[in-house]
Amino acid sequence: MPILQNILFLLLPSLLTLFFYFYLFLWKRSKPTPNLPPGRRCQLPFFGETFAYLKSHSATTTGHFMQHQIARYGKIYRSNLFGDPTIVSADAGLNRFILQNEGRLFECSYPKSIGGILGKWSMLVLVGEMHQSMRMIALNFMSNARLRSILLPEIERHTLLAISSWKEDVSFSAQDEAKKFTFNLMAKNIMSMEPGEMETEKLRKEYITFMKGVVSAPLNLPGTPYSKALKSRSNILRVIEKKMGERSHERNEEKEEEDDLLGWALKQSSLSKEQILDLLLSLLFAGHETSSMALALTIFFLEGCPKAVQQLREEHQIIARRKMERGETGLDWEDYKQMEFSQCVINETLRLGNVVRFVHRKAIQDVRYGGYDIPCGWKVLPVFAAVHLDSDLYNEPQQFNPWRWQRCSSGAASNNNFMPYGGGPRLCAGSELAKLEIAIFLHHLVIKFRWELTEPDCAYAFPFVEFPKGLPIKVHAIA
Ligand code: HEM
Ligand SMILES: *[C@@H]1O[C@H](CO)[C@@H](O)[C@H](O)[C@H]1NC(C)=O
Repeated sequence: MPILQNILFLLLPSLLTLFFYFYLFLWKRSKPTPNLPPGRRCQLPFFGETFAYLKSHSATTTGHFMQHQIARYGKIYRSNLFGDPTIVSADAGLNRFILQNEGRLFECSYPKSIGGILGKWSMLVLVGEMHQSMRMIALNFMSNARLRSILLPEIERHTLLAISSWKEDVSFSAQDEAKKFTFNLMAKNIMSMEPGEMETEKLRKEYITFMKGVVSAPLNLPGTPYSKALKSRSNILRVIEKKMGERSHERNEEKEEEDDLLGWALKQSSLSKEQILDLLLSLLFAGHETSSMALALTIFFLEGCPKAVQQLREEHQIIARRKMERGETGLDWEDYKQMEFSQCVINETLRLGNVVRFVHRKAIQDVRYGGYDIPCGWKVLPVFAAVHLDSDLYNEPQQFNPWRWQRCSSGAASNNNFMPYGGGPRLCAGSELAKLEIAIFLHHLVIKFRWELTEPDCAYAFPFVEFPKGLPIKVHAIA
């Protein structure tokens, strides 16, 4: 039967292929190969793409390197950063998923340098229950009741103090002024240190060195920024410790207790001295650098958008006029609630300026998302900046347009994708304080002054955001 033989002969290769695929199918089912997001395979050992990723770029962009990676691989790609295999996410959905699954699928995982400088009890590096209890102290300290009654008047006092030192027609660094303002405010609220006092100024100088180390390579060799920062850390801790010592003294002498964070923390008898020190230091860090940059960025973006300044000024003049008519002095919560356009300006500043550009996480289980596998132990970086500057989500994302936040305006940004303060169980504990600081500062700024840049400057991401020239401005009083 030659015909049958021929047919079998012809079918044989197809049958073999079929068997092969069937076998492959069974094998795959028993041992699936992970479907990793795409990314470059060949990379330098250890450093990988870290340098390219961290290369400084304009703060209002995601940077050439990341733009290139997204164009090539999509919004979720794999890389090698900070010495670990990493999934980088510029995808709004994945970013939300990561933050919401903190403690279940993902966990906060900052580089060693941050833990070394901020301390092992810092809220930024702690996970689990200990994080939760430290977080509660911070949240209680910045509760709504305290924001209204204590922090708001304090912010206004510090604003007026800062603004009253400005001379007309003399160029000064708005960034330095913003840093001084938020530092003094935090130093006052954390441990009742008064602005301008020598001790406060000394602490502030120390803190600048400290900051440089947080963002540097963790090389503890003589002369490196990291080792200088470790020295600053112990100098700062010594100041806080001295304050603690004074407190226990005062308590013995039955003096009036200070209503500051140190006072609160001391009352929490469960905390050790070491824990209190790290808590205070990390709050000083979290609350100072971020909100001062946000304020400097607001001043910068507004300078380039006279129409927004005009509308802001009208909003604040109405508030000021009403206060005058009622014979009231000092802003209160009701006034703050009237600052609606100011909130649009703040949101737009954070969207375009991206003070905190990304956060560090790692997968603590094998995770599947959108068809991709993220293996347990891999680092994951949700990059908020990339979402906030995504033209699929925001019309003309490079434009400073506070009106996009107005209710009912067309092209309004969906809040779902806007995460300047992170999200989930680690959502910024100080976001309400930060907004209050900026709004109150803006109130006095726009009703008293016009301002202009005296030299071109622009915010850069190093990746921490900074104005290289310090944002030099000069002001003119409004008649
Ligand atoms: C505009 C200014 C601010 C921005 C953009 C900002 C942003 C953020 C972000 C993105 C996180 C999350 C970090 C992570 O998930 O790993 C965070 C956490 C935190 N922020 Fe802010 N922040 C600002 C101002 C403040 C202020 C004024 C304070 C006051 C002390 C503060 C205190 C904290 C604390 C304590 C945490 C840790 C929360 C936790 O781990 O549970 N922040 N912030
Ligand atoms: C600003 O953004 C926050 C989310 O962080 C949102 O809840 C709020 O409604 C926004 N404000 C305005 C005026 O759109």
